[in-house]
Amino acid sequence: MRIIQTIKELQNTLNQQRQSAGSVALVPTMGNLHQGHLQLVSTAQRHADIVVVSLFVNPTQFGANEDLDSYPRTMQDDIDKLEALNTDILFAPTIDEMYPLGGDHTSRVHVPGITDVLCGASRPGHFDGVTTIVNKLFNISRAEFAIFGEKDFQQVAVIRRMVDDLNIPITIITEPTVREADGLALSSRNGYLSKAQRQLAPQLYATLLEVKLAITAGDNNFEQLEINAKERLTAQGFKPDYLHIFQRDFLQPAKDTDTDLIILVAAFAGTTRLIDNLSVNLTTHTL
Ligand code: PAF
Repeated sequence: MRIIQTIKELQNTLNQQRQSAGSVALVPTMGNLHQGHLQLVSTAQRHADIVVVSLFVNPTQFGANEDLDSYPRTMQDDIDKLEALNTDILFAPTIDEMYPLGGDHTSRVHVPGITDVLCGASRPGHFDGVTTIVNKLFNISRAEFAIFGEKDFQQVAVIRRMVDDLNIPITIITEPTVREADGLALSSRNGYLSKAQRQLAPQLYATLLEVKLAITAGDNNFEQLEINAKERLTAQGFKPDYLHIFQRDFLQPAKDTDTDLIILVAAFAGTTRLIDNLSVNLTTHTL
């Protein structure tokens, strides 16, 4: 695996390799790679000839009181995992390389509307940081494909909207959330959990399943279901941020006649903010 730190070297390398090898797939990450990320790399390998994994803890997507400084940085471990998968290129730039004028003085990409709800409402500016860095990575790599995990459902929706609105020539591919045996969605932030919080954490997914079960059994009083689920989370020891039943395609509150739904949750276990989601399609009724 080639490890590249500068934009110029990545562009030169891809220009050369494209001529002989062909298409490029990008897997954007912030490192601390787990099985969910590795699944994205395998998917990338099925779609393209050259796979670039980017590893960049992007400061512009963290709020002032968030975990930028403590975000887990495990470079050697990440390199070992990517090498074991025969990844072609790891792009691991410095902050100065990506934001030579500083994050605050760099042009931002803002996707309106869907960034105002859910995580966008709780983390103002977060998605502007995400779309800005992802757009830069798309432009630098000129990848034909980019692969993202469905655990960050709103992030994928925002990126898809950016790609559509700005006519970016890239195909977005998503992979289902990878879970621990007890249902907890894999996340780099799971490492922050104490033993007790780790025992509590799978209840987030259990709550999503419970809401899904109620909906598929015919309950379409979504507002009440949301209230009950948040109460359940609080009683268990979480501090819920939101739990919403939305239209899957438009990320808007679901109406009682909607059939393609997604339940999205964010809740704190201690100081760790966990997110998860679960789709409900009432025309297929699968659990
Ligand atoms: O999902 C993430 O890890 C980040 O938000 C991303 C897409 C790599 C942008 O920094």
